[in-house]
Amino acid sequence: MKKICVMGCGYVGLVSGAGLAQFGNYVTCFDIDKNRIEKLRNGIMPIYEPGLQELVEENSRAGRLDFADDLSEALNNCDAVFIAVQTPQDVDGNANLEYLYKAAEDIANSTAGNPVVVIKSTVPVGTAKEVAGRINDKFEERNLGYIAEVVSNPEFLIEGKAVKTFLEPDRIVIGCRQDEKVCTLMKDLYSKPADEGRELIVCSNETAETIKYAANSFLAMKISFINQMALLCGETGADIDTVAKALGSDSRINPRFLNPGPGYGGSCFPKDTKALVRTAEKYGVDMSLVREADDSNERHKEILAGKIAAIMNKNGVSNLAVWGLSFKAGTGDLRNSPAIAMVKSLYAKGLHIKAYDPKAMKEAEHLFKNNNFNIELSADMYKTLEGAEALLVATEWECFRESDISKVASSMKGNLIFDYRNILDPIRVKSEGMKYYGVGRRYETD
Ligand code: UDX
Repeated sequence: MKKICVMGCGYVGLVSGAGLAQFGNYVTCFDIDKNRIEKLRNGIMPIYEPGLQELVEENSRAGRLDFADDLSEALNNCDAVFIAVQTPQDVDGNANLEYLYKAAEDIANSTAGNPVVVIKSTVPVGTAKEVAGRINDKFEERNLGYIAEVVSNPEFLIEGKAVKTFLEPDRIVIGCRQDEKVCTLMKDLYSKPADEGRELIVCSNETAETIKYAANSFLAMKISFINQMALLCGETGADIDTVAKALGSDSRINPRFLNPGPGYGGSCFPKDTKALVRTAEKYGVDMSLVREADDSNERHKEILAGKIAAIMNKNGVSNLAVWGLSFKAGTGDLRNSPAIAMVKSLYAKGLHIKAYDPKAMKEAEHLFKNNNFNIELSADMYKTLEGAEALLVATEWECFRESDISKVASSMKGNLIFDYRNILDPIRVKSEGMKYYGVGRRYETD
């Protein structure tokens, strides 16, 4: 059984740590936040992620997973140390590597042995090489005679499905040479999913680092593309649902990530597209497709908000109910949420807004308060509709998809429905005497 240390008990670190333990490795998760470690030792998760608590409990009980706030202790006899710290977006769009370099420095200063350093965080191409150089400098200072081995092993976790995506990945990308000892170690750590037929892609660190940005940017482009097509359908009378279905049935395209909506958000796509554009600029390479996907995504939210404002204005109404604030269903995460962007824009346009989200109420209260936004939050999805002249569905939560349309109609004061996730049945909505506005949808009674 291999011994691993995971640095950073955030979202990626915790899921990876618990997942690697589930693969049969012995894992110590380290974090500088003592309070967080104490809570984790008591089974309290710092984030909400379906299945994570159970996975942590199961592996802790089995003696394969523990938590430490002392790095030297966590690194003791380790075969590999995974760095899973945040690499947030800098003001200029670049990835901020401050925490990552600090983690590398801490490893170099604290370790007695020479564990393989595995970078899980999303980092621009060239970072693994830079990290190896920095660690080697420290090793030299300490006269250890070690040469650092650094492997890029990017994570492709999807919020809300992170445990499943870790345990049953589409592929595992490992940046190292096939003939190196470190490659054997990495394959060993992932032998369980590999034995189950999951693909292991072994490549250079530069390739591994690029794959992560390429994957996220490609998906972002796919979403921006379908959103632009949806706007066109909205103007021409074509139906985006049918267009997307037909597109997706081409096996070369595939149906996933072709759902039109208010634009993509979250902690990855907006950040990673920008960072890739910055990297390309650095090398003098044209990355205009990705830049445009990102710019178009920004404009898209404003275009949709503008449509709501114009229609409400035309109808002489100003009370809007908003269902959904998180950047997608299944999470309370508000980072770069298109729902929040639209709420901010509509608030600035003078609308009175009352909002509800099944998971993000506390975070939303905080955010609105900090920004001095006078937006009312309602703890009940139907009560949010009282006095509302229009409803915006901004996140695709199941409870909205399955909402009782007659109850919606009778709870509201007005009759405008902006279904910006295309999850309601337009004909059903119209049958209650309401006006339906989706994103590029055409339906029978038009
Ligand atoms: C993404 C990647 O999927 C994952 O591989 C990577 O590791 C991190 O970034 P995540 O941010 O958790 O994961 O969310 P994802 O489910 O990919 O959705 C991102 C955004 O795109 C959301 O705002 C979502 O609503 C939007 N989206 C997604 C669409 O608008 N349409 C779609 O068809 C799919």
